[in-house]
Amino acid sequence: VYGFSPGAPEDISFRVFENSVSVLGGMATRRQVRVTVRNAGRSHGFDLLIYLPNAAPRPVPVFLGLNFYGNHTVAPDPSIRITDSWMRENASFAIVDHQSTEASRGVNAHCWPVTRIVERGYGLATIYYGDIDPDFDDGFENGVHPLYDEGQRTDAHWGAIGAWAWGLSRAVDYFETDDDIDAGRVAVMGHSRLGKTALWAGAQDERFALTISSGSGCGGAKIFRRNYGETIEHLNRAFPHWFCRNFTTYTNNEDALPIDQHELIALVAPRPVYVTSAVEDRWADPRGEFLAAKRAEPVYRLLGVGGCDADEFPKPLKPVRSRIGYHIRHGSHDVLPYDWERWMDAADQHVR
Ligand code: GCU
Repeated sequence: VYGFSPGAPEDISFRVFENSVSVLGGMATRRQVRVTVRNAGRSHGFDLLIYLPNAAPRPVPVFLGLNFYGNHTVAPDPSIRITDSWMRENASFAIVDHQSTEASRGVNAHCWPVTRIVERGYGLATIYYGDIDPDFDDGFENGVHPLYDEGQRTDAHWGAIGAWAWGLSRAVDYFETDDDIDAGRVAVMGHSRLGKTALWAGAQDERFALTISSGSGCGGAKIFRRNYGETIEHLNRAFPHWFCRNFTTYTNNEDALPIDQHELIALVAPRPVYVTSAVEDRWADPRGEFLAAKRAEPVYRLLGVGGCDADEFPKPLKPVRSRIGYHIRHGSHDVLPYDWERWMDAADQHVR
């Protein structure tokens, strides 16, 4: 589905280029780190934006997630470096000019309740996904792919989701070097295509202590064979760069797949996983997302860590708090404060 990803790079280095010890009214430290990876004589870099709670004992547990529109859109702070990578357009931000401008600082802050996260004793780390790999079909010539794929791409090679997930693991490489961050207590989260990415990252890298999917839908948490909402045909047509080429074999051919997505979730076992849906997000098939979480249960039970404590599709705002967690809330395809509060509850339960 996602293709094979390379392991850790030949060489990786980190440069802390900002460290402000008193931001958010003194509650937090903000750190920005340039991550540079080198392989096969080429290099590629991306920025990690990190907030750490000053009141929490060191090292702190952190949430890690990719963002859609640049680190500078996560918070309205003029010190956050604006990327010069390819930038995803979003008409709803009503930014007349290109988005990588001062005017777009903090435009996506509603998805990132930094103050609340810090208040609850967690750090937050984020990377702009386009810094790792641009989100368009570029023949894999940009982003991190050229470091690995030169002259050897096969139909089983990683696509963009594989690259983004690989980038998340590089953030953990950094955490392992930072005494303020507990690399053993990292919750990886993501929404939508980045929710697909978080699941794939959590499945592959056992350093993630908790894996959280928000509205990840088709190619994420939902069961492909449901034939509801988005299909493999749509994924491969609209986003041919997300998956490996072999995945096109299953366009209009779901039944031929040797797997389904409950097995992706089961790959995270025995580590905790939390799946989130929204009632109006029918494109992502909420029931199919729940069913995949539920059907991962035999593997969790086999490993002796409990399962998914819901026999029926849960009602909205009735979170399932077992090792496989789940909630559905009212509203649409988005990340809302309610989601973050439940994810932090899950982190309190499993990670802290
Ligand atoms: C589209 C796509 C989904 C994806 C979403 C997103 O709706 O069809 O698969 O999850 O974009 O990432 O925003």
